[in-house]
Amino acid sequence: MTTSSSTSSSTDATWAPDSWRGRVALQQPNWPDASQHGAALDELRSFPPLVFAGEGRDLTQSLAAVCRGEAFLLQAGDCAESFDTSADSIRDRLRVILQMAVVLTYFTGVPVVKVGRIAGQFAKPRSSDTETIDGVELPSFRGHIVNDIGFSPDDRSPNPQRLVTAYNRAASTLNLLRAFTKGGFANLSEVHRWNREFVAESPAGQRYEALADEIERAVQFMEACGISSDTLSELRQVDFYTSHEALLLDYEEALTRQDSLTGDWYDCSAHMLWIGERTRQLDGAHVEFLRGVRNPLGCKIGPTATPQEVLDLCQALNPEKEPGRLSLIVRMGANQIIDKLPPLLDAVKESGHPVVWVCDPMHGNTFTAEGGHKTRHFEDVLAEVSGFFAVHRSIGTHPGGVHLELTGDDVTECLGGGSVVEQGDLGTRYESMCDPRLNGGQSVDLAFRLAELLRKGQSEA
Ligand code: PEP
Ligand code: CO
Repeated sequence: MTTSSSTSSSTDATWAPDSWRGRVALQQPNWPDASQHGAALDELRSFPPLVFAGEGRDLTQSLAAVCRGEAFLLQAGDCAESFDTSADSIRDRLRVILQMAVVLTYFTGVPVVKVGRIAGQFAKPRSSDTETIDGVELPSFRGHIVNDIGFSPDDRSPNPQRLVTAYNRAASTLNLLRAFTKGGFANLSEVHRWNREFVAESPAGQRYEALADEIERAVQFMEACGISSDTLSELRQVDFYTSHEALLLDYEEALTRQDSLTGDWYDCSAHMLWIGERTRQLDGAHVEFLRGVRNPLGCKIGPTATPQEVLDLCQALNPEKEPGRLSLIVRMGANQIIDKLPPLLDAVKESGHPVVWVCDPMHGNTFTAEGGHKTRHFEDVLAEVSGFFAVHRSIGTHPGGVHLELTGDDVTECLGGGSVVEQGDLGTRYESMCDPRLNGGQSVDLAFRLAELLRKGQSEA
């Protein structure tokens, strides 16, 4: 890979890694010291890429299989990653995603493409630039890549050194994920060990135990037949990809490199990048930047999106209609999905754009509970996914996957689920710096419910 230069190999000569600078870029912090900010970006430009372009192409191929209905996408992780996340917590997040993938694969018989909201999910869009508490007004918390969550002028002042820390945290998280997924932890014969103690005690965890028994027997059977994980790397390793919202465009630009094999540009901060609901304006800087990099892309689609807007986004982000290039991550809310999704599916189907349709059942279902905690109800999450599947069935399109906020830890941030969290429990262990996440038990429970919905779809197809 070479570092960025001003020439572009993009088929569109109007694009360059910095062409977004000519557009309106929403949700960017006001860095107080321009020279420090510039120095941090120079440092980022000198760093090695975090991911390799070839990995991005592999993910696009896997997502093309999702697009054809031959695989399912599980994209999941934190709402806002913290710089203080421990190695154990990273391992447990991976562990719950592996558990969910096993449940889904076992019951549906299709491969699960695993993409984490991890190793770079540090920037958050905010509805207001400032926050006022007891008459004191300070900049809003924009994620650890910008400032800190504490409410003091020092905490909240955007600090460009955090851009460099974000790169370093992403690198060490990614390194650990690569070690776990390729070094034995993800071996299918470890399937029992992924069931962490507190999850194992939940109803979903017990159901998982029974399934792990069956998988273990199948693995033993294969070994008796001479097929073991020593000979078959698919049993020993998993492919796990990273993703985050491409929000801070100067960070993303600084990590954008030209692939020496193909001449294409890749944003090497993660395998997959998505555009958030607040920054998906067709003439905005985020669409401009992402249209020129060859990574697989996502774009959030909320309840106000019109069919024309969605078609325009498809055209801007995937003009060559390449399957796997574009995932539309729909986040309507449980009570709007049935009304709002069909016209979008019809329009995209009619246009011939290949889209991976993904359901984010989290962001349209957030409310503030009586005690002041931001939360979501497991039943609303399930209802939105269920509506998403039903709409696809009726239109004859493929429900490609889900996009979730979860953690492997035993937090009490979302209500309901297998080992029921109630309103009064929310304060017990509420650790999210931003949106509420499903805990380990709720996540495994959701995987079983998803598997049931998918099987229903398969039997009716
Ligand atoms: C998010 O994914 O955390 C987020 C902010 O979502 P959206 O852009 O859909 O609101
Ligand atoms: Co969120």
